[in-house]
Amino acid sequence: MKNSRTKIIIGAIISAALIISIFVVANYKNNQVGVNSDNGENSTVQNSNNKPADEGSKTPELPKEPEVKPDKNGYIPNQTLPTEPTYIKEILIANKRYPLPSTFAPEEDKTARAALDTMLAAAKQQGFDLVAFSGYRSFEYQTTLYNNYVKRDGVDAADRYSARPGYSEHQTGLAFDIGEKGKEDLWLTEEFGETAAGQWLFTHADEYGFILRFPQNKEHITGYMYESWHYRYVGTEIAKEIKKQDITLEEYLGVN
Ligand code: DAL
Ligand code: ZN
Repeated sequence: MKNSRTKIIIGAIISAALIISIFVVANYKNNQVGVNSDNGENSTVQNSNNKPADEGSKTPELPKEPEVKPDKNGYIPNQTLPTEPTYIKEILIANKRYPLPSTFAPEEDKTARAALDTMLAAAKQQGFDLVAFSGYRSFEYQTTLYNNYVKRDGVDAADRYSARPGYSEHQTGLAFDIGEKGKEDLWLTEEFGETAAGQWLFTHADEYGFILRFPQNKEHITGYMYESWHYRYVGTEIAKEIKKQDITLEEYLGVN
């Protein structure tokens, strides 16, 4: 009798130990789910806004979903163009990470054009005959331009200086390529930035609400080589802040 009670107790202890081990193993396996799912598939850029788990809640923090990595040219592979443009801090952004809808066709921005005209008039007063030789570009026109550059230089080279259709700031109607009249040979060249006219523009653009959009040594942030000629209207307050801090629009908006 005593013997059989001992057997029952030992049996109960072994069973309890077994149940506990099964529970521990199952729990461990559960926690492993998702750890190896970090393979870049089925995720979207929207996942970068992961919110912390509610304080006080016992729910374990979910593993961060992977962001889709841009390719070597800065583009998200197979990205489809959005149906709406992106505004961050009320600023319209167009770059390799934030494309525009193909149907987005605002034409030239009137405020930007007025600021440009005032700036060009001020430059003339100082003896610099500046001209905006490219401004608003439609999605279709950017397609033609980009395709021609690709034919001429290949995709990798073209992607460093020309936006793919839907990705150009020129489609916003807020960007202008500026050069000096009579010095057309310097249009679209770095050398323009070294001329007195290019220097005047760089120094004073912020007073009229413009920023040099693709500065030197910022290709890893802006996605494009230095463009001494490409200016973007953002309004005087933001332009002055960006210039003062010597940062890019991406850095100002926190999307670098
Ligand atoms: N050249 C600039 C990057 C554009 O094509 O919009
Ligand atoms: Zn440009």
